[in-house]
Amino acid sequence: MAQWNPHTYLKFGQERLRPALDLLAQIPLEQPQTLVDLGCGPGNVTALLKQQWPNARVIGIDSSPDMLSQARENHPGIDWIETDITTWQPDQKTDLIFSNACLHWLGNHDILFPKLLNHLNEGGVLAVQMPNNFAAPTHQAIRDVLGADHPLCPGYPVSDCRDYYQWLAPECERLDIWETTYTHVLSGDNPVADWTKGAALRPVLDGIKDKGEKQVFEQAYRKRISQAYPPLANGRTLLPFKRFFMVCLKK
Ligand SMILES: C[S@@+](CC[C@H](N)C(=O)[O-])C[C@H]1O[C@@H](n2cnc3c(N)ncnc32)[C@H](O)[C@@H]1O
Repeated sequence: MAQWNPHTYLKFGQERLRPALDLLAQIPLEQPQTLVDLGCGPGNVTALLKQQWPNARVIGIDSSPDMLSQARENHPGIDWIETDITTWQPDQKTDLIFSNACLHWLGNHDILFPKLLNHLNEGGVLAVQMPNNFAAPTHQAIRDVLGADHPLCPGYPVSDCRDYYQWLAPECERLDIWETTYTHVLSGDNPVADWTKGAALRPVLDGIKDKGEKQVFEQAYRKRISQAYPPLANGRTLLPFKRFFMVCLKK
């Protein structure tokens, strides 16, 4: 599996934090006893969950040892577990499963999401945020440069909101689904290409093994991105970024 780099990922930390805070603000729980952050990464969002509910047992789960070592170093008082979400089986049911910017990396949402709901206590909450910008130039440029049939091309992992509703509604008291497009104001030379390097581009760059080929790809990609997201007169670059949110309150 391609490795995550906490430093590259955290480069746009503030912009990446905002949707997590927007998700957190919608969780209808007073005093969860146990909560799990799936795909916790470097742990900065998990720490906010702990801050919101200091008496809860908080568990951060991730498959990346580099991300978890940063989380362990910076955030004591939280249990960090290295495991793959697709095979994760909790010892006991939990009150909250939170996941920010992770589940779009996993397939088979028709199986995964009902399974996650099953790991909740009665009245528990599944709260998920996923990017939903797979048709944007950031991703289309990868397909254009590699060719649409290339195995490293990104797919469209987030399903239609009606699908999530139908998979989950029978087990839910309330199901709140919404989408938001954030407009990130970025600085620097070709900052959108730097942004994708910390996420969508990561498996592509890891997957191109030949150094020369990687360089050619990256140059062509950066050129397309600088054309698709040109700087404004004040030097700033705007990145519109659509995200999908869901808060399910289990019956
Ligand atoms: C974009 S980061 C998000 C980190 C954190 N949730 C945040 O909001 O800052 C995605 C994280 O999901 C983790 N991840 C991806 N696939 C995973 C899987 N199958 N099992 C566990 N973790 C996974 C990655 O290792 C990475 O740390």
